Amino acid sequence: MTIKEYVLKRKQELKNIVLSLKRKPSLIIINANEDEASKAYIKGKLKDAKELDIDAKLLQLDKNISQNDLLDIIKQYNDDESIDGIIVQLPLGKHIDEEKIKLAISPLKDVDGFHPLSKLNPCTPQGIINYLKHENITLSSKNAVVIGRSNIVGKPMAKLLLKENCNTTILHSKTTFEDMKFYISHADIIVIAIGKESFLDNRFSYKKDAVVVDVGINRSENGLKGDALKDLPVALQTPVPGGVGLLTRLALYENLIQICKGEN
Ligand code: GUN
Repeated sequence: MTIKEYVLKRKQELKNIVLSLKRKPSLIIINANEDEASKAYIKGKLKDAKELDIDAKLLQLDKNISQNDLLDIIKQYNDDESIDGIIVQLPLGKHIDEEKIKLAISPLKDVDGFHPLSKLNPCTPQGIINYLKHENITLSSKNAVVIGRSNIVGKPMAKLLLKENCNTTILHSKTTFEDMKFYISHADIIVIAIGKESFLDNRFSYKKDAVVVDVGINRSENGLKGDALKDLPVALQTPVPGGVGLLTRLALYENLIQICKGEN
């Protein structure tokens, strides 16, 4: 099933779960930046909420808001019983310590799964695992390669693949090209999140039954491009756009619903 078909199907299921809850789930999205990518993500999140009959609101703040003022706002929502979930859109300005912000959100309301005490997982890695499992892709004992070591994707992705019993390797900007070629040629699952358009291309050889999950979102003159060249000679490659972005948004609402059911 394509990602679009899967997301459509799962959204219908989530809609029914939302209807069965005692009250509508509520989410606050706090945004303190003005970059276009964040605006696009938030627009997508709000659109999904509407479809799922979830009460999601955006609090748009000035990008120069001080760290203390932002912490005060988070505390206010932590204490507000009418709010189930809190998202602080990243990245934040350089004058703000993102780690402090992540730790300030109550782990009970942490839809992003960024807090170390949160029982939920970050949305992009969790969304990817959910989709791979739905497609019956065997993970246990397979060679998984994660390219990129960000806190939002690379590191938590590697952790989840390890939990699924993959032989998991993280490659990154300091990995030599020779080693890249070696690990990629032996990989069954490749998750790429390095923000370099068409980095995975024909310089590399691939197992023909490999799966490539493309997390890249590169805005170029030719539109939205992934980190992988289209139509690599592999068994499955997720598209950009219409790929991992949709899985992330879905996982976000899976997390929020878990919070509402008290399963977090
Ligand atoms: N910025 C890019 N992706 C994300 C995400 O998943 N959560 C938050 N809070 N900010 C992001």
